[in-house]
Amino acid sequence: MVLHRISRLGSRILKEIVGGRRSSICGTWNLQRSYSQCLRSLPMVQSQTRISQEAMFLKNYKFCSSSSTAVEKGDEENEKINVTFVDKDGEEIHIKVPVGMSMLEAAHENDIELEGACEGSLACSTCHVIVMDTEYYNKLEDPTDEENDMLDLAFSLTETSRLGCQIIAKPELEGIRLAIPAATRNFAVDGYVPKPH
Ligand code: FES
Repeated sequence: MVLHRISRLGSRILKEIVGGRRSSICGTWNLQRSYSQCLRSLPMVQSQTRISQEAMFLKNYKFCSSSSTAVEKGDEENEKINVTFVDKDGEEIHIKVPVGMSMLEAAHENDIELEGACEGSLACSTCHVIVMDTEYYNKLEDPTDEENDMLDLAFSLTETSRLGCQIIAKPELEGIRLAIPAATRNFAVDGYVPKPH
């Protein structure tokens, strides 16, 4: 009687898997868990049967885990935040920036006039932006010494100035507003040579 019940449970699991109903695979796992518990309480069940059940459990458990990780990763990759650039004329440009992208890259992808002479290698200050709200400025990572050195050379430096190439989009920055200063200093063009410290 008990063996018959086990057999019925086993065939239900196999039907779920073979039917390819992805959404119910995790439910199948729960079913298997009950099945395994049932098996554990029956010492008379042959060890070979138990091994094959455990193999099936591991296979489906692995599938569930990797599947949810992939979904989470996909969500993260697709996540974007709203960013507003305010250009030199005071005009607002609203864009969406993928999490992980720098504000310099985002500006260039959206044809916003933010320079970036050294392409993010911290050797200029032409990507200087002003974070318009202190609340957002405080959410940024602290600037490195290299960034501070470059900022010291920027025109129109303010308390909330940062280099656009060093601001990386993250969910906490949703709604950030960045002003582009009226002028920038480009060492190569202006002939400016920074003094050694
Ligand atoms: Fe040069 Fe950002 S592009 S420091």
